[in-house]
Amino acid sequence: MNDRKYILTGLVIFFAIVTFPFWYNLGKAAPGPDIKLTEKAKAAKTCVMPTSYMRAEHMQLLDLWRHNVVRNAERVFVNTEGKEFNMSLSNTCLDCHSNKADFCDKCHNYSSVRPYCWDCHIENPKEAK
Ligand code: HEC
Ligand code: HEC
Ligand code: HEC
Repeated sequence: MNDRKYILTGLVIFFAIVTFPFWYNLGKAAPGPDIKLTEKAKAAKTCVMPTSYMRAEHMQLLDLWRHNVVRNAERVFVNTEGKEFNMSLSNTCLDCHSNKADFCDKCHNYSSVRPYCWDCHIENPKEAK
């Protein structure tokens, strides 16, 4: 009785199936959220601060803006390039990024973040006016 070749074949098939998820996904990463820019944002080309900074630090920037407005009655933000912005979540951020659902929400849903800001701040300043 010689079952060696059957056992070996079985082992090869078993190994291939068990490791399938690993080699099938080799070199691939989960796609990020497909966020969209409005025409207004595209025309402006840049955000309040450089994109990499915004991507990582926009929450801190919003906190700073809130602090300056609410505690210091200071409403003008001057960025690193000397450009001035009204420190406002609805009137500035959502003026350029007026497609909140396709921009802020899409990324937040992807990252499971639920900012509670919209309990008070309006999401559609343009329509509400
Ligand atoms: C003058 C228009 C304008 C304003 C105002 C503005 N943005 Fe932006 N924002 C842009 C543009 C344009 C980009 C994309 C830049 C690029 O493609 O490199 C961007 C990029 C971003 C990104 C990074 C997106 C990514 O690709 O990962 C975040 C986050 C962001 N903005 C949040 C904000 C927040 C929060 C505010 C308010 C504090 C704000 N933006 C105000 C135009 C604006
Ligand atoms: C490129 C992805 C991306 C985009 C676009 C984006 N955010 Fe965020 N946002 C995040 C992530 C990720 C966090 C959580 C960061 C953390 O917990 O440190 C976050 C956190 C926040 C927070 C803090 C929430 C909390 O509960 O602490 C606020 C406020 C916020 N985002 C506002 C905005 C606004 C307003 C826009 C649109 C103008 C926007 N974000 C667009 C990825 C994004
Ligand atoms: C309980 C209600 C409430 C919530 C929730 C809230 N805010 Fe505010 N926020 C206010 C009020 C009131 C002001 C003062 C408005 C003014 O003086 O213009 C303000 C002012 C601000 C300002 C400066 C003025 C402006 O026009 O935006 C920023 C920036 C801001 N908040 C960011 C945030 C962010 C980011 C969140 C979520 C992480 C948030 N707020 C959640 C009530 C709220």
